[in-house]
Amino acid sequence: MVLNVQAVRAQFPALHHQENGRAPIFLDNPAGTQVPQNVIDAVRNYYLHDNANSGGFFATSQRTDALKRSARETLADFLNASHPDEIVFGPNMTTLTLHFSRAIGRQFKPGDEIIVTQMDHDANVNPWLLLAQDKDLVIRWVRLDPEEGTLDLQTYESALNKKTRLVCVGHAANALGTINPIKKMAQMAHAAGAQIYVDAVQSAPHVLVNVQDLEVDYLVCSAYKFYGPHIGVLYGNYDLLEQLTPYKVRPASDKTPGKWETGTGSFETIAGTKAAVEYLASLGEGPSFRKRLESSYAKIAEYEQGLVWRLIEGLKAVPGIEIRGIVDKNHADMRVPTVVFRLKGQHPDETAQALADAAIYVWSGDYYAVETMRALGHAADGGMVRIGIAHYNTSDEIEYVLEKLYGLC
Ligand SMILES: Cc1ncc(COP(=O)(O)O)c(C=O)c1O
Repeated sequence: MVLNVQAVRAQFPALHHQENGRAPIFLDNPAGTQVPQNVIDAVRNYYLHDNANSGGFFATSQRTDALKRSARETLADFLNASHPDEIVFGPNMTTLTLHFSRAIGRQFKPGDEIIVTQMDHDANVNPWLLLAQDKDLVIRWVRLDPEEGTLDLQTYESALNKKTRLVCVGHAANALGTINPIKKMAQMAHAAGAQIYVDAVQSAPHVLVNVQDLEVDYLVCSAYKFYGPHIGVLYGNYDLLEQLTPYKVRPASDKTPGKWETGTGSFETIAGTKAAVEYLASLGEGPSFRKRLESSYAKIAEYEQGLVWRLIEGLKAVPGIEIRGIVDKNHADMRVPTVVFRLKGQHPDETAQALADAAIYVWSGDYYAVETMRALGHAADGGMVRIGIAHYNTSDEIEYVLEKLYGLC
C-alpha cells in the first residue's frame, strides 16, 4: 500500500492557507511540522469539555486524569515502551533534558565520564557540559566524520571506559539527517557499564521508534516535530527512573512518572499529542495499534525517500553547490529526508530569504547543531541551508524548489 498524499494533505488545514496569494511550501519541518485537523480538534475539545486541574473529585478533573492515563498508553505504544508509566510529559525536549541531567547527575561523582557527539543538537550536548562543570565530570566526544556525514565509531569505542556513566547521542541528526546506529551504540555502552540517553526528536517523524529493540535506557522526543502540539516526551526504563531523584516540590508524587512532571501539566497539548499518534496510526493498516503504526511508517518512509532522493539528485545538478551528509543512494536507509547545502558564493540567509520570497519555507544557520557546523567548517560563515521534507510535501513542491534554486545560481 502506498501513501495517499492528497488524502494526507486534506487533513492539514495549514497547507491550504494562502500567504500573499499562494499556499506556502513547508520545508521547515525539522523545526516543526504542521498539525492535522484531529490534533486541532483534540486541543479544542479539551478546552470545551475537560478543562481542569488533575486530581479532583469532579467530572472535568477526572476526565483530565483519564486523558493523562490514556495518552501515556498511546505514547507507550508509539515508542514501544513496556509500560505507560515509562512515559513522562514535559514542556519540550530541552527542558526535559536539563531537568533529567540534574537528576541523574546526583548519582555521579567527580571524575565520572559522559560521552556526547559532534552530530547532536545542543540540547543533547550543553546540558551535559553544564553538568560536567558543576560536578567535575569528564566529557568525551564522538567525532563526526565531515566527509561521510556519520559518527566515527572508533572515537566512540575509545571514549568508552569503566568510568563512563552515560552516553548521549541523537537517533537522527537535525542538520545532516544521518541516522545513527543506536542499537549498536547502546550495546557498546551497556557492555562498558554505562547507560544511554537518546535524542529521538528528528527520528520520530520518520522512523518508528522502538525503545525495546534499540535497547536504550532513556529517549526523548518532541510532539511538535511529529504533527502534534508543542510538548516534549521522555521515555525512561521504569526501574531506572524510579532509582533517580529528580528535583521536585514536596507535595508532588514520589512515584514515576509523576515525580518527573513538575507543576501542572499541559493537558491540552497532551490531548493533542495522543491525537497526533492516532493520526499517524490512521495512515496504516493492521490488527493492532502498533501494527498500524508500523504500516504507516513504512508508507511514510517509502514516500519521503522518493522525494528526498529526487531533491538530492536535483541539487547535485547545481554548479558549485556544497551538499553535506549522506548523498549516496546505496545508504538511503541511513538518513531521514533532511538535506543541508550551500549555493556557491551565497550566504545561507540570502538563499533562505530568496526562497521565503517565493513562499518556500526553509531554515538557514546552525539550527543549534553547533558542533556539527564547526566540524563542517561552517560555524563562522552562516551555517547551511536546510530543507526538511515531511510526508505531506509533494513532488511538485520539490520540482518548484529546485527550479527556484536553479534560478538563484
Ligand atoms: C535533534 C533535536 N534535538 C532537540 C531539539 C530541541 O527540541 P525542543 O524544542 O523540544 O526543546 C531539537 C529542535 O529542533 C532537535 O532538532
